[in-house]
Amino acid sequence: MRIAAILLAAGSGRRFADASVAPATGLAAMPKQYMLLGGKTVIRHAAEALRDHVTLIQPVGDDPLLAQALEGIETLSPVPGGRERQDSVRAGLEALALLPEPPDLVLVHDGARPYVPAEVVTSVIDALAQHPGAIPAVAVADTLKRGKDGLVDTTICRESLWRAQTPQGFHFPLLLDLHRRHQGPVTDDASLLEASGHPVALVQGAEDNIKLTLPEDLVRLERLLGSTPL
Ligand code: C5P
Repeated sequence: MRIAAILLAAGSGRRFADASVAPATGLAAMPKQYMLLGGKTVIRHAAEALRDHVTLIQPVGDDPLLAQALEGIETLSPVPGGRERQDSVRAGLEALALLPEPPDLVLVHDGARPYVPAEVVTSVIDALAQHPGAIPAVAVADTLKRGKDGLVDTTICRESLWRAQTPQGFHFPLLLDLHRRHQGPVTDDASLLEASGHPVALVQGAEDNIKLTLPEDLVRLERLLGSTPL
């Protein structure tokens, strides 16, 4: 069974840059996946979390920093990403499809999500024996409100609501086919299976498997992965 992982590192990291309180420090100019946590880049942590579980890693990104960040980790050559996340996933899938022996399964992982426990990766892969897609997710714990004009409009029942994470896993030929046929924006790959009636298994994710999105996420991730004392 050949398992590939697409490691996403394209995109501007706009929300992180916009929220940065100290652009003068140069923080805002650094794409978030290249920030250091305990002496290693965010994306290197992500690659290390995946590498023992997969046959191949296909990085996607345009920045010269990418190859440098992954130095010493065996990967395919990075391919350039696209405008939206789904364009970048598609670029990775097309690169894998060109291999003499394309993979059977593919994991799609955000390069900005550095803390992925091994059990999460193996649960996703194991679920693919039964289902064409599988995603890690955590149950929503907070009460959810819909807002309107600064006021609470209504409360949304949180029962059966989950927060989706990555790596999301799929049967490779199916995900490639759905990406080739799909038009319109999606924020994750499982959505493509859902829209076409293919079952996607929910497996237990991890509360700490967060995507570096805002500067304060760095503090939490440093606690988990880095060496900075509190
Ligand atoms: O922007 P967002 O936080 O949703 O990005 C999630 C992941 O997708 C990040 O690892 C980012 O590098 C990647 N991405 C990409 N190509 C894009 C947009 C985002 O590879 N066009």
